[in-house]
Amino acid sequence: MSALVDVTDTNYHENLYARYRVLRNEHPVYHDAQRNIWMITRYDDVRALLRNAAVACNADTGHSYLLSLTSLDGERHKELRGAVMPFFSQTAMASMKPALDALVAELFDRLPNQPEVELLNSVIKRLPQKFVTELLGFPKHLAPRWYELGDCLVGQDPLGEQPGAPEVALRLLDELQALMREALHWKRNKPEDDFFSWLSDSQTVQEHGEDGVITLANNIGLAALDTTINLLGNGTGLLARFPEQRKRLLDKPELLPGAIEEMLRIEAPTQALPRRLVADIDVQGVRIPAGEEISLVFAAANHDPAKYPQPEMFDIQRKNHDHLAFGFGLHKCVGQHLARMEAISYFSELLRRYPEYELGEHRWLLSHWARGYAALTIHGSA
Ligand code: HEM
Repeated sequence: MSALVDVTDTNYHENLYARYRVLRNEHPVYHDAQRNIWMITRYDDVRALLRNAAVACNADTGHSYLLSLTSLDGERHKELRGAVMPFFSQTAMASMKPALDALVAELFDRLPNQPEVELLNSVIKRLPQKFVTELLGFPKHLAPRWYELGDCLVGQDPLGEQPGAPEVALRLLDELQALMREALHWKRNKPEDDFFSWLSDSQTVQEHGEDGVITLANNIGLAALDTTINLLGNGTGLLARFPEQRKRLLDKPELLPGAIEEMLRIEAPTQALPRRLVADIDVQGVRIPAGEEISLVFAAANHDPAKYPQPEMFDIQRKNHDHLAFGFGLHKCVGQHLARMEAISYFSELLRRYPEYELGEHRWLLSHWARGYAALTIHGSA
């Protein structure tokens, strides 16, 4: 049974959705003994638990080593979330769209005029990375270390180094937090009109406390890069794997927002996140006691045929706006409008320049919570 889930195995990631199917059908509440966590994979169960924040809590999980919104519950979470939301509202994001479009065009302009193009490092990663420095105001001289830490934390390239011991990940997280502190300190002395200046401002610190400010900085540090990178990469893969859907999109560019929702549904960048139970629960006839950790597998829920017929089919006109790729309920993604805006800008440009590309070298990352490429090139003349 333990072979059902082995996130260190390349094969597992190659056959991910088939594995989820087995879990959903045969073990909808599966205890992964290796990680000591209960995996919940059916759509209705995952959604119900996301709604039940009084019992399935964010604090004290395997993901709550660093202070962040995702490790907080209750009033403190509400207060800090309320403070940061206006910066990432749809309206605030729309005001940045022209600058973002220019940035995307510039990244594509720099690509070599060759039949095979490396996209992952030259465009896909650069887009959210440049956004956080140029539009959110993260200090440029500290940014390269952030990008490196993000790459190490999200997962492993199967052709790269073997995964480090758990204490290595904790050291990287400590480093990320120290980097965020340094960035806030630097911005406090050199404020401009941007998000990180607001975050480091003495009035913000007075209002929300040093720990509140670092909570929000850590969250951006953990959430703003790889998630979006993986949406862009995964969507690039999907459009090549389903050329008839891409053709439909080329014919009707107004279908792009729906296509992006379908990319999020079918290849959720954040595959699963944990909760800690503060009371016993019963799911599908299985009792899980208080104190246990559960994994809400958004990606498996998004493939539940009871919710989405023919779930493996990438259908850009599917009615799927209730997918769980951004979570649901009190902790639903703060950056969802930003991620969508980056995706619209990127895919519009990609399809304009390479309407008929095919996938070149590509392989999946090894990760137990993220879905994304470790390498991605395309063939296609610009
Ligand atoms: C495609 C891109 C993204 C995906 C798939 C994604 C996914 C998620 C998910 C699933 C959650 C819910 C966490 C939970 O329930 O515990 C979340 C929360 C969050 N995301 Fe995103 N995210 C993305 C992009 C971003 C970006 C660009 C930002 C930058 C602002 C961001 C900031 C956050 C924050 C601050 C939270 C915590 C919200 C809370 O706990 O109240 N995300 N995200």
